[in-house]
Amino acid sequence: MPDYFIQRLATQSLTPKAAGESLVRQRLLLAAAVAERTAGPALISLLARRGEVQPNLVASIFRIEDTFERTRAVCRELGASATLEISELLPSWALDRFPQDSDINRLLLSYQQRPPLWLRIQKGDPEAVIRELRGSSLAVQRSNVIPFAVMVSEGCSGLYLMSAYREGRVEIQDIASQAVGLVCAPRPGERWWDACAGGGGKTLLLAQLMKGRGTVVASDIRGRKLMETRRRAARAGFSNIPIRSWNGSNQPSWARAFDGVLVDAPCSGSGTWRRNPAARWTVREEDLEELSAIQIKLLSSAGRAVKPGGALVYATCSLFEIENQGTVRRFLDSHPHFVPEQFVQPFTGNRCVEGWTYFWPWEADCDGMFVARFRRTE
Ligand SMILES: C[S@@+](CC[C@H](N)C(=O)[O-])C[C@H]1O[C@@H](n2cnc3c(N)ncnc32)[C@H](O)[C@@H]1O
Repeated sequence: MPDYFIQRLATQSLTPKAAGESLVRQRLLLAAAVAERTAGPALISLLARRGEVQPNLVASIFRIEDTFERTRAVCRELGASATLEISELLPSWALDRFPQDSDINRLLLSYQQRPPLWLRIQKGDPEAVIRELRGSSLAVQRSNVIPFAVMVSEGCSGLYLMSAYREGRVEIQDIASQAVGLVCAPRPGERWWDACAGGGGKTLLLAQLMKGRGTVVASDIRGRKLMETRRRAARAGFSNIPIRSWNGSNQPSWARAFDGVLVDAPCSGSGTWRRNPAARWTVREEDLEELSAIQIKLLSSAGRAVKPGGALVYATCSLFEIENQGTVRRFLDSHPHFVPEQFVQPFTGNRCVEGWTYFWPWEADCDGMFVARFRRTE
């Protein structure tokens, strides 16, 4: 993404202030504008030296927190106008796909910011694990909403080698995904099914919330991802996670077998586009209808496995209406034995009386997600 901006700004819209202004200088200033703000003094002085500009100028640009403001400062310096069109940040069709009352400006800004790394403290006393992480040079900050969630602001490069990670005391998981676990709210001793478990992030979270008592069956269409779930469950020391392959079709032997089922469905991923910017240009509008049809099919088959009185939770990391309220509406229309169930939105504290909510990136510096909860009545 930074390369895209550099190219776009340096080659198409900039008019050098004075003849002879070096393209290198422009490019380096632009690099400074879009580079990560974590760049240290060595990079600043290198950019300044190579770009023949004052280190103070580059450093002052680095200090500007907001990407747009940073880009504007560079344009002011170069006497250039380089306004990015919204259609260069997102495909234009996407703007019509967010829910009607969305704060589009805020969303566009958040799409341009670097997402933080979130960890879930999985085992042990959280305070002790936080001390251990800090002792390993990780700068971490505990969430004031989810007590086992910590944000890493510095030092994550050595994470995979740290014993806290290798011994399963922490797992990497965005805080929005952690909040989905709170909406599931499984109780110790229950039987849950994570139907689209993938690599098992939420499976492990459910098992943690159940304090090792009860069962969480993990399934997915992709066997390789299930192997990852198996490895991560072993690292966490959870022995109550049976792994079963599932391709989304009806599974009669599981009918009415679970207290709760989570369908963390395949989706456009539009809530994670700041983490994965290239996906903005690979998802097509025509994919959305197809995704919604798959989501309804998965919910219908997985829903059969819920006991009467049990919970069905639907989650996506999409912010598009059609994959969220759209899918929910169509599912409930054809499954009258499921009713929406209210819950408390973990980040805002609001009661979601309609049984669904979005997690917006600015609520917790998190991925964008959607979650809905239903109760089976018969
Ligand atoms: C959003 S991802 C799940 C992420 C996972 N729950 C986690 O927390 O890491 C959706 C998953 O659905 C799976 N999937 C897609 N189509 C499926 C199908 N027909 N049956 C079962 N799983 C399917 C994908 O393989 C993918 O792993």
